[in-house]
Amino acid sequence: MGMNIAIDGPAGAGKSTIAKMVAQRLHFIYVDTGAMYRTIALSLLRSGTDCEDERALSEALEQMDIRIGYENGTQQMLLNGENVTGLIRTEQVSQMASISSAKPIVREKLMDLQRTLARENDVLMDGRDIGTRILPDAQVKIFLTASVQARAQRRFKEMQEKGIPCTLEEIQSDIEERDYRDMHRDTAPLVQAEDAVLVDTSDMTIDEVTQEIVRLVEQKRSGM
Ligand code: DC
Repeated sequence: MGMNIAIDGPAGAGKSTIAKMVAQRLHFIYVDTGAMYRTIALSLLRSGTDCEDERALSEALEQMDIRIGYENGTQQMLLNGENVTGLIRTEQVSQMASISSAKPIVREKLMDLQRTLARENDVLMDGRDIGTRILPDAQVKIFLTASVQARAQRRFKEMQEKGIPCTLEEIQSDIEERDYRDMHRDTAPLVQAEDAVLVDTSDMTIDEVTQEIVRLVEQKRSGM
């Protein structure tokens, strides 16, 4: 069995940036579970499936073959054999992923895939319910968060750099909306696992956060 690290937290806390760096430093496989939910969302948008129609949703999920691959160490998402990695970061997909990931049947579809990856490899997996449900026995659990203001500022800067027009207020309200949905859904809501270490990144640099998590993992390893 591999060693497992679970990183959970709200949208925009820096999970994927940090997780990638930590995984690289420790030679772990990085598994971005949000990308899996995004791939399902893309497929549902393409087929025009109404998530509230249980039968339609179940039929759509049966048709979907979701796989994960790696190219030069970077995770790739395959939807029925098509590499959709470059198509799942749009705002439309983000919103749909936030809605469809609240459906138990959607979560069930991904659970086995996520657990199998963790059983067979040293993985660092990030998401919302990794430490609480998917890998409750993970040796290291981190709850990575930051204030809404800090997360909105970071995202605003990113959008400005990409030349995408938006306002800070819009971004902040979008983050608040997603936080609310992720934290208040009935199935697998975002909560900090009891045995997770809270890391608030509001006033920390990427390097500081990476070092802190690597330190926690090494501390755990030396005691194992
Ligand atoms: O981390 P992200 O923004 O790429 O995640 C996309 C959506 O998927 C987000 O609304 C939360 C959801 N998600 C989830 O419910 N469980 C996970 N383990 C990962 C993501």
